Amino acid sequence: MTQKHIVSGNILVYSGDPFMLPLDEAVCIQTDSAILIKNGKITERGPRSHLLKSHPTAAHTPHHDKLICPGFIDAHAHYPQTAMIASWGKRLIDWLNTYTFPEEMRFADPDYAAEIAARYLDLSTAHGTTSMASFCTIHSESVEAFFEEALKRGQRVIAGKTCMDRNAPEGLRDTAQRGYDESKALLEKWHGKERISYAITPRFSPTSTPDQLEALGALWAQHPDCLMQTHLSEQLDEIEWVSELFPQARDYLDTYEHFGLLGARGIYGHAIHLKPREIDRISEVRGNLVHCPTSNTFIGSGLFDMAGLKARGLSIGLATDTGGGSSFSMLRTMAAAYEIAQLRGTVLHAGHLLWLATQGSATSLHLEDKVGSLDVGMEADIVVLNLASTPAIEQRYKNAKDQWDMVFPTIMMGDDRAIEQVWIGGVLKSPS
Ligand code: GUN
Ligand code: ZN
Repeated sequence: MTQKHIVSGNILVYSGDPFMLPLDEAVCIQTDSAILIKNGKITERGPRSHLLKSHPTAAHTPHHDKLICPGFIDAHAHYPQTAMIASWGKRLIDWLNTYTFPEEMRFADPDYAAEIAARYLDLSTAHGTTSMASFCTIHSESVEAFFEEALKRGQRVIAGKTCMDRNAPEGLRDTAQRGYDESKALLEKWHGKERISYAITPRFSPTSTPDQLEALGALWAQHPDCLMQTHLSEQLDEIEWVSELFPQARDYLDTYEHFGLLGARGIYGHAIHLKPREIDRISEVRGNLVHCPTSNTFIGSGLFDMAGLKARGLSIGLATDTGGGSSFSMLRTMAAAYEIAQLRGTVLHAGHLLWLATQGSATSLHLEDKVGSLDVGMEADIVVLNLASTPAIEQRYKNAKDQWDMVFPTIMMGDDRAIEQVWIGGVLKSPS
């Protein structure tokens, strides 16, 4: 007989996008609630007493005052940058050349790739992240290592070989043809296997020739159900460089659009300094943006316009951008998104922040029918938050005025100590 499991406590529930609906209609915390997990999925949700009565033989994990959330979803990360996170003193292009590229070079060694893939997935799970879209390196070995490790853990992940055929050191460059061939082989092997999806991954237009962008655009046209992930308009120097490298392009987005790399399954990381035409086009094609706030402050990139872009109805995910970002924690990432919004004169509610880190990210990655909420039918990826995880947070929690006021200090001050439990595909992972 299949084992059934009830997890009970206070449950975060969504009815819509809180940037589109009034917040209290879109997001709520249901107290004394429970979910039933069977075969890795959520099969029922309702009052705790009701579920316990209807399923007397189910195992039960009670959480009382803890907050049960969908597992966090990191919509843009670089797992190969795990070992060089928080490297000092450079802005984007110098940071890539000084720290990132030398580290990524090491992934030619499959043993090193396997070691870092396991370390990254351990760290992200310990921080409550159950799914992510990760860049790998130029080496197919780095993609194999990441997917093998995710497969072992039953995790829903998206990743792809990071293609570069110029402006990168020898050893980190492929060619237009090799980028196409190796991406195609990996895609055919892995896309749709268990919970794994492949994303075609040109790093960003400065490191791809027009020939490579064209080849990857052709690959995407042949596999339109795949995602395509890249970077867009992160720093002003980078944008200037793109305009020198692509003198015919109308703007940065056009360097992708021209080669068939703009579409509804396109995921564009950063997108800070967008021009009106770029916003209009992304909106028309229903492309997806990813906000990486700890990275944007750490590398000094700028202030993402969350309120303005959500007002245009754009799909936006939230991400660490490990290791340009300075933390593996999506709680830290939500806090940084709050701070950046404040610097732009807008206020994000705890409900907005949690939604962005779960259903917002899931929607930006076209996974909203699988993960990102605790609705019936969803895969059982769950993070349980202890809302009093440190003395500083606890004393603030005890003075809270209402449910949301109990949650907000954990968003602003919390870290991996706030992660009480993590479930992936209905299996308890942490603490194991
Ligand atoms: N732009 C191109 N590559 C990268 C990267 O690895 N990190 C960040 N933050 N931006 C990039
Ligand atoms: Zn990135």
